[in-house]
Amino acid sequence: MLSVKDALKNQILSLDIDMCEPDAENAFFVANLDEVYNQHFRWKSLLPRIEPFYAVKCNPDPLLLRLLASLGTGFDCASKVEIQTILDIGVDPSKIIYANPCKQASFVRYAAEHNVKMMTFDNSDELYKIKRYFPDAQLVLRILTDDTMSLCKLGLKFGASLDSTEALLQTARKLDLNVIGVSFHVGSGCYDENAFIDAVHRARFVFDQASELGFNLHLLDVGGGFSHSRNCDGITFEKIAAILGPEIDSLFPPNVRVIAEPGRYYAAPAFTIATHIIARRTVLSNGDVQTLDMDTVLNDETQTRDDHSGYMYYINDGVYGAFNCILFDHQVVHPKVLFKKGIFTFDEILDEPVYNCSIWGPTCDSIDCISTVSSLPVLLPGDWLYFEEMGAYTICAASQFNGFKKSNIIYTATNPEVFAILYDAYF
Ligand SMILES: Cc1ncc(COP(=O)(O)O)c(C=O)c1O
Repeated sequence: MLSVKDALKNQILSLDIDMCEPDAENAFFVANLDEVYNQHFRWKSLLPRIEPFYAVKCNPDPLLLRLLASLGTGFDCASKVEIQTILDIGVDPSKIIYANPCKQASFVRYAAEHNVKMMTFDNSDELYKIKRYFPDAQLVLRILTDDTMSLCKLGLKFGASLDSTEALLQTARKLDLNVIGVSFHVGSGCYDENAFIDAVHRARFVFDQASELGFNLHLLDVGGGFSHSRNCDGITFEKIAAILGPEIDSLFPPNVRVIAEPGRYYAAPAFTIATHIIARRTVLSNGDVQTLDMDTVLNDETQTRDDHSGYMYYINDGVYGAFNCILFDHQVVHPKVLFKKGIFTFDEILDEPVYNCSIWGPTCDSIDCISTVSSLPVLLPGDWLYFEEMGAYTICAASQFNGFKKSNIIYTATNPEVFAILYDAYF
């Protein structure tokens, strides 16, 4: 199979913009499944004690899920459909945690019918619900941790504070429920590895509290929030692993099983999106928008720039589609030039002047803005941009608002082992 570069190139060079069918020049993803495989072995080598249960919500792509299932990960499911999806690919129910502390009653019954025993809770009403519909469930108490160092603060919605955990455990005891462990989530997009350390100390506190109440907890779930980044200036998986692994070992004896619910870590780096510039408006230095005639546009690079303050580029996926991550996931995306004036330029630094520009999605809504300020060389309608690391919380929450289709996915992998796993999964 092809490299990401070649997959992008093939798709773009095969297009005849003047003759192609409608939709042929739509934006598209290239999913490089080697990245998922590499992330898995990075995890295993740096955090060998912690079993990853991939957070399906992050990107429920069927090939990604099958690959992870073949690699032996577990799965964190948030709903009946996610549980069903994972069971349908042949994963054993014991490898699923239903990690939504506030569950619909019929979904709890569904979990019971399918023997998906592990589930989280953070309030007493949930305990009564579980007592009624699944009294044999293996319960994991989700505690509140400090999420101030994270982009998505999940503590606003979930997590029992440490002053409520004793009462919750007592209720569980009274109801004769089986509490097996503690979970937390430091928040998605966590940018300070110390948040994990504080959280495991809180979990230890609840383990001790539970033991005084007669429980024998043996599961620690350290949630998600793991960075996929390799950029040493910021938070990296290496930095988290270097302090989290030893801290867990010092606080929890080997008989405690430790799992995690990484989502972004696995999905983000595997997906690159290519978007077509469908239109452009030139913004003059006085703030007026000039709509140039086609001859001027085509000769644009010969014009002086003095009268232009920048460009507005319109591309064919936006915040109602894959770029919803800008609104919902607090992401800032970075456009790169993929194809300019008939030349394919993946991963190249262009030796050209750059100009201020803004980048807009294709819908008629002005909230559909991908970047208010970027710097790019002068581009024309028909050129292409690409954005890397677009696999997390993108496709899964995309809509078809204004009739724009969701961007298709082209899969690729160069690692023969990945290819073999996928081949086995399908044939
Ligand atoms: C319960 C739970 N677990 C795991 C995750 C995955 O988090 P991340 O993608 O930051 O690893 C989420 C994300 O919202 C979550 O809500």
